[in-house]
Amino acid sequence: MARQNGTNDKQIQELLLQALEHEKGGVKVYETALECVINDDLREEWTKYLEETHRHVEILTETARELGLDPDTETPGRALTRGNGEALVKAMQKALATLKADAAQLVACDCVVLAETKDHANWHLLEQCSEKAPAPWRAALKAAVDEVEDQEDEHLYHSKGWARELWMESLGFRAVLPPPEERKHVKTAIGAAKAEHARSKMR
Ligand SMILES: [Fe+2]
Repeated sequence: MARQNGTNDKQIQELLLQALEHEKGGVKVYETALECVINDDLREEWTKYLEETHRHVEILTETARELGLDPDTETPGRALTRGNGEALVKAMQKALATLKADAAQLVACDCVVLAETKDHANWHLLEQCSEKAPAPWRAALKAAVDEVEDQEDEHLYHSKGWARELWMESLGFRAVLPPPEERKHVKTAIGAAKAEHARSKMR
C-alpha cells in the first residue's frame, strides 16, 4: 500500500519481518560458525556477536508488535530469507564433515560475512524507515536502530577483516591477526577502508 507521502507501509512491514527472520537465521549461523572456529580470538568475537544477535531477535520481535504486526507472520519473502540462512548453515556443516579444520573455519568466515552483509543492509534500511515511516511507527523503529546499528557495523567490518586475514594466512601471505579492523575498533565504512589500507604497516 503506497501512501500519499510515498512510503509503502506494507513493504516496511515486509522488511521488518525479513530482518527478524534474518536475525533468527543469524543465531543459527553463529552457533554453527562457533563449531567451525579454531582461532581463540575469533571464537571470543563470534561468541559476543551471537549474544548480540539473540538480542537483535528480541528487539525486532518487540518492534514488530509495536507496529501492530504478529512477529510470526509468514510471507513468501520471509520464507526465502529463512532458506538463505539454512543454506549457510548447511554449507558450514558440510565443511565440518568434509574439510580440514582450518578450511572449515574459512568457510565459516565467508558464511558470516555473507550473513552480516545482508544484516547490515537491513539495518541501514530500517534506519531509513525510522526517519520516513508513518509517524506512529518512527519512535519504535528509531529505538531499535539506536540500540543495534553500531553493533551491526562492528559485526560486518570486523568479520570482513577476519575473513580477509585468515584467507591471507591460508595462502601463505603475511596476515595481520587479529585484523586491523578489530585492533582499531572500526565502526564505519571509511574506518574499515583505512584499517585495510594500514594493514601493510602492521604486524
Ligand atoms: Fe544483527
